[in-house]
Amino acid sequence: MPVQSYVNGRYVRHHGAAIHIEDRSYQFADGVYEVIAVYGGGIVDEGPHLERLFRSLGELNIAAPGSERSIKVILREVLFRNRVRDGALYLQVSRGVAVRNHAHPPDMKPAFVVTARAHPWPKDFAAVEGIAVIAIADQRWSRCDIKTVSLLPNVLARMGADTAGADDAWMIGEDGLVTEGTASNAWIVTDAGEIVTRQLSQAILAGVTRRTILEFAAARGMTITERAFTLSEAKAAREAFQTSTTALVKPVLKIDAAVIGGGAPGPVTEVVFTAYLEHFASFGGAA
Ligand code: PDD
Repeated sequence: MPVQSYVNGRYVRHHGAAIHIEDRSYQFADGVYEVIAVYGGGIVDEGPHLERLFRSLGELNIAAPGSERSIKVILREVLFRNRVRDGALYLQVSRGVAVRNHAHPPDMKPAFVVTARAHPWPKDFAAVEGIAVIAIADQRWSRCDIKTVSLLPNVLARMGADTAGADDAWMIGEDGLVTEGTASNAWIVTDAGEIVTRQLSQAILAGVTRRTILEFAAARGMTITERAFTLSEAKAAREAFQTSTTALVKPVLKIDAAVIGGGAPGPVTEVVFTAYLEHFASFGGAA
């Protein structure tokens, strides 16, 4: 449990930290967020996460809560006050507080909250457990590229997975194509050994983990194809995995009743995991 959190310009005791009941994120989910990993005291991929935060804010025309520089200072202060060296930062910016009305007044002052929590990270692939996912209709809106706090469809999909006895769900669009996981990007390795993840569009969130993996794959001469794939292609895949800031590279061993890769994490997933962990570890040892 965090000890202190940042709320609108002040560092306050986490227990009892509060935002106003007429905050638009509470009433309209009118806000955006980021989750950023912290490894060995270093903030992992802080630049790309803040870049995406500013992009999401811009898409919704919400004012930035401060400059990139001032946000970086706040993130470090929250980590310091909570003594977090391995864990995650959560940032949420809402449009702010106003009398409830769908149309908002101009020039609103955004509300900004930052929390930090400790969380251990796996140190190698042997420590990683694979998961089972179910396929579920993607009921989200048409702007999934914005990291908005409107997460109810994602929460419902995750609840559907729980009910089905699975660990997570992969969402399927009306066209039968896999969009993404409830809080992750989806990947498969085909029989021909091709690594595939869906191309960026308004149908998926541009994952920072996804971006990092594409960057180091290119640097290592690995081929990754960015294209959409169907649920049946995923079920017939040699390997499957999902990626996110908090789950890193997670092997998917089952999709509905289809067992993937004989039910064990595969070699390509291991290579991607290990390379990602190396990237992760390069942030460790920060003062
Ligand atoms: N979610 N797609 C969705 C819908 C997500 O919510 C997330 C991350 C991702 C992966 O993005 P990244 O690699 O930048 O974490 C893809 C965060 C972790 C969350 O909601 O907790």
